Amino acid sequence: FLPKIFKGKRILVTAGPTLESIDPVRALTNFSSGKMGYSIARVAQAMGAEVTLVSGPTSLTTPLVSHFESVTSAEEMYQAVMYAIAQQDIFIGVAAVADYRPAEYSAKKIKKSGQPLTLELIPNRDIIAEVAAMPNAPFCVGFAAESDDLLKHAEEKRQRKKLPLVVANIASDTMGKDDASIVLLDDEGTHTFSYAPKAELAATLLQHIANIMNI
Ligand code: C5P
Repeated sequence: FLPKIFKGKRILVTAGPTLESIDPVRALTNFSSGKMGYSIARVAQAMGAEVTLVSGPTSLTTPLVSHFESVTSAEEMYQAVMYAIAQQDIFIGVAAVADYRPAEYSAKKIKKSGQPLTLELIPNRDIIAEVAAMPNAPFCVGFAAESDDLLKHAEEKRQRKKLPLVVANIASDTMGKDDASIVLLDDEGTHTFSYAPKAELAATLLQHIANIMNI
């Protein structure tokens, strides 16, 4: 049983990886499964929110949320988020957005030559940092999946992107898994939640957001 504390609130969630095409048959992506973001979207909807889920490519079943938008690249995710953002009370950026994309897309399949091949990458826009910097920004929650120095990197990210709340976890503990352990970093400090199913962590996170926002 989940109390409907988010009734009348709109929550935008991004989830999954993004996929950056190199040529018609190749792409760059990452190991995000989308499970954490989908859990958060599903639980937020169950807690009464009107949820918009913007998802990169995953193999998951589309959850029952108010609005679902499927995207491929970071640029498409950026456009989908910006289209919906003005109406949102809360933005939760769970997606593992590719930091870079190929500088050029080759419309023809790149042929192998036997020689080394250099691929030039250019940075993608940081969706959550841009949202957090908007006037009248919704309450923004970022995720930090790190391989080392978890709290240091997560807090640095929280400061740099100006996010009131960051959810930190060790990438290899969470990517593709059904369970995870998380640390929440906010103005008060850190709050650790050890290994639990992602649906349970989603409820914990959403309750924490409600507490900070006084709802
Ligand atoms: O810097 P890093 O990619 O590790 O930050 C992770 C957080 O920033 C996540 O909340 C992710 O959804 C968000 N992000 C974003 N746009 C990017 C890169 C990351 O919204 N281009």
